[in-house]
Amino acid sequence: MSDTSLNGASKPWPTYKRLLQYARPYRPFLLMALVGMVFEAAAGAGFTRLMKPIVNNSFDPSNTSVSLLLPLAIVGLFVVRGLAGFVTDYGMARSGRSVARDLRMLLLGKYLRMPGSRFDAEPVPSMLTKLGGDTEQVAMAAIDAMKVMISASLQVIAMLALMLYESPKITLMILLLGPVLAVMMDRVGRRYRNINHRMQEGAAGMLQSAGQSLQGHQEVKVYGAQQAELDRYATLVQQNLRLGMKVEVTRSISSVVVQLMGAIGLALLLFVAGLEAIAGRLDAGGFVMLMVAMIAIIPALKQLTNVQGMVQRGVSSAQRLFEVLDSDDEPDTGTLPLARAQGVIEFRNVSARYPGQNEPALDDVSFTAKPGTVTAIVGRSGSGKTTLVRLLPRFYAPQSGEILLDGQPLDAYRLADLRRQIALVSQRVMLFDDSIAANVAYGELSAAGEDVLADAIRGANAMEFVERLPQGVDTPIGEDGGRLSGGQRQRLAIARAMLKDAPILILDEATAALDNESERLVQDALQHLMPDRTTLVIAHRLSTIEHADQVLVLDHGRLVEQGTHAELIARSGLYARLHRMQFREPDSV
Ligand SMILES: Nc1ncnc2c1ncn2[C@@H]1O[C@H](COP(=O)(O)OP(=O)(O)O)[C@@H](O)[C@H]1O
Ligand SMILES: [Mg+2]
Repeated sequence: MSDTSLNGASKPWPTYKRLLQYARPYRPFLLMALVGMVFEAAAGAGFTRLMKPIVNNSFDPSNTSVSLLLPLAIVGLFVVRGLAGFVTDYGMARSGRSVARDLRMLLLGKYLRMPGSRFDAEPVPSMLTKLGGDTEQVAMAAIDAMKVMISASLQVIAMLALMLYESPKITLMILLLGPVLAVMMDRVGRRYRNINHRMQEGAAGMLQSAGQSLQGHQEVKVYGAQQAELDRYATLVQQNLRLGMKVEVTRSISSVVVQLMGAIGLALLLFVAGLEAIAGRLDAGGFVMLMVAMIAIIPALKQLTNVQGMVQRGVSSAQRLFEVLDSDDEPDTGTLPLARAQGVIEFRNVSARYPGQNEPALDDVSFTAKPGTVTAIVGRSGSGKTTLVRLLPRFYAPQSGEILLDGQPLDAYRLADLRRQIALVSQRVMLFDDSIAANVAYGELSAAGEDVLADAIRGANAMEFVERLPQGVDTPIGEDGGRLSGGQRQRLAIARAMLKDAPILILDEATAALDNESERLVQDALQHLMPDRTTLVIAHRLSTIEHADQVLVLDHGRLVEQGTHAELIARSGLYARLHRMQFREPDSV
């Protein structure tokens, strides 16, 4: 966090330049804004220029012809300025908003391509902050800073040109005098602010001291410390008085000094202006115009000094975004196409460790799972069961060892092809704010026909409740399926897996959080799903494990026992112990 902002402080411009690249597609809008800014600055200068005839002619009784023209010109100029301002704002906002939109799309796209470990390293709320706040900050800062830089510069240039044209001598004098006065006034102001700050700190100390003696009044009295407390307070109060006087004196003197400096500046100006007037090079209107131009330049200059800060804010956000955009995608170097796998899974001495963990989550695990069989994975919580099944869709990569599908290493296949072979039902079902149908026919399944969809829902024992919903399969389920029970959600997930009809089925504690009735329905649905596939099931339910073709027993990431239920019971090892303590039948709960 702090090092990125430090980075930003040292080199904000390269980041800013990169940011502007994202505005390239919107050059027509930027150009439109630029034209607007030119007109705005020109209109401003035009208005200032009008000061001259206004002062020289408007109040001249012998001159009647211009008295209508000038007011009209003023209105005209402001119409131009207003229009130009609108065009500028529109073009800038349009570009800025578009850049924000593009960055958001890029960012979410990137996040969805990142490896699983990234989601452990960065919590989802932080990702959302980047999608929301940072993209907004970045786009606005980039665009606002550009707007200020260009439009304020144009204004300054226009005004300076006007002034130089009118009287080079006085303009140069203002240019010399202005900065000197500004620096001196700033010094005086800073001294005042410093002392005022110290004064406030002193006041806090004073309060604290009094508070202490009052709160400890019993101790103060019992130990006879009244005088000591008073003395301590007196010192602070006295200091406060002295500082208070200093603040007042500084404030008073500085305002006098500031005013005096302003007066001296004005006097000098008037003196030179008088000389110029005598020489016939300046009239009253010209002088007023110079003053108005000078005053008009000041806010533009102030804005220009703020640009750095604006860029800085945007750049810190931008660096956070670019860090994400520049990070690596999930590795996907496999070239082997895979239409439909047979489903032979083989783990060879697989070890896996999460980033930043000392202990491996999986330690030298080897086994084979064949098509048409069920492999049950059991073990205590934290023993590595979920980790094992997460390796198959390559959410994580093993540290060593090899995982083969149909005799080929997983990473030889194209990632999308590999994942197409796997249906996954986990304990926490992810549902999206959409209809039942859209949730079951999710992602690549969205083209599924109505019949197939209905079959899947029926097979998952879900039709029973879906039919009773007001709009059947088209019923919206609300955010994260809030209107559904746990068992109903689980059955929708099974319907999704059925529809996918993948050769590999992974069930990670799919029924662990359900009540007995739902568990029975879900279990029955799972029975429809399992045949002819390679099924890996992490389960606590005895009947699932009993009927499995093989049981893998994990402990601290190691595969400690392997065999059928009966074989493992006979060994009376860890499995037998777990069996007594942990596995349950719905009826026995
Ligand atoms: N995303 C993760 N980051 C770091 N450590 C993890 C992560 N997920 C799991 N672990 C750790 O890996 C070990 C195995 O976890 P897991 O496979 O989830 O166990 P199980 O599913 O058997 O309960 C545990 O010690 C767990 O704390
Ligand atoms: Mg788990």
